[in-house]
Amino acid sequence: MTPRVYLDLTAGVGGLPLYWTSGGQVRPVVSRIGNKWGYAGAICRIRGLSWRRPPEVLLLNDADPEIAGLWRCLLDPEIARAAAAMIRGWAGEEPRPLWDRLRARLASGELSPPSVEWCASRMAAEMHAMPGAPNAFNEQALNGPGGVRRPRSVLTLSARTQAVSEWAAARIESTPTPGAVALNARAEEIPVPADARGWLVYADPPYQGTTGYRCEWSRADVLEVARRWADAGASVMISEAEPLDLPGWHHVEITALRTGPKRTFSKQQREFLTLSEPPAWRPPVQRSLFAVGAL
Ligand SMILES: C[S@@+](CC[C@H](N)C(=O)[O-])C[C@H]1O[C@@H](n2cnc3c(N)ncnc32)[C@H](O)[C@@H]1O
Repeated sequence: MTPRVYLDLTAGVGGLPLYWTSGGQVRPVVSRIGNKWGYAGAICRIRGLSWRRPPEVLLLNDADPEIAGLWRCLLDPEIARAAAAMIRGWAGEEPRPLWDRLRARLASGELSPPSVEWCASRMAAEMHAMPGAPNAFNEQALNGPGGVRRPRSVLTLSARTQAVSEWAAARIESTPTPGAVALNARAEEIPVPADARGWLVYADPPYQGTTGYRCEWSRADVLEVARRWADAGASVMISEAEPLDLPGWHHVEITALRTGPKRTFSKQQREFLTLSEPPAWRPPVQRSLFAVGAL
């Protein structure tokens, strides 16, 4: 059954909901370590999610106020449009002074979400520093599809700012999230409705034993929250680096199904999805799994 409500307890940059609702066409607006984009295709297939059947309501929650603030801006069409226009207005500037100015403005504490200037400054500062930003051979961003490839060396600095600005603005404008609402709460504190049938609740908590996020969530609390939602009738799924100890639930290893760049800098080697409902699809079992025992 297609879920009517999707609740992402730890939305981050929204790898899974963006993939699901766009059929893989819309990427998160900024890149973050831990973002689920690379696994989102596999997760959708395992849970039987299709862009043809999106949820009526998308609740994107994150305990981090900056992340929640970014969603509030992106989900408000007026703020998103104005922020994109502001970023385009910076297109003629040299990148380094622009980046320094934006960083200083943000550090001053004068700006806060969900204002247009906060959103534009935050996005532009991040995107100028982002791997994958238009540079060496990204002809699509520089010249349009099918254009002539131009190596970075022939780009002037302001041509690069122009390319990044256009790219950043277009990404902000292309985050289609009808029916989406941003929430800023600790996952443990979100009230569970008495009848949560028709809800799909997804959590991608910080991997146990790793640091790197401002907000944390203990394993015991993750399990408790997962049980609470499932007891109320929700379909629940959780991403972690190991199968979670939830008796009667289902575990699928998706390590080999990651798409895009490999995790060069991460110690985390494996990726599992733990589901309250039987998966709609299971990847073929790899030989190595037999070696470590059936899950
Ligand atoms: C691995 S990231 C999620 C990435 C996300 N799935 C994506 O595609 O970008 C973990 C997120 O959990 C959030 N977080 C940590 N503890 C939390 C808590 N107790 N409640 C809600 N969110 C929490 C962090 O702020 C972080 O954004």
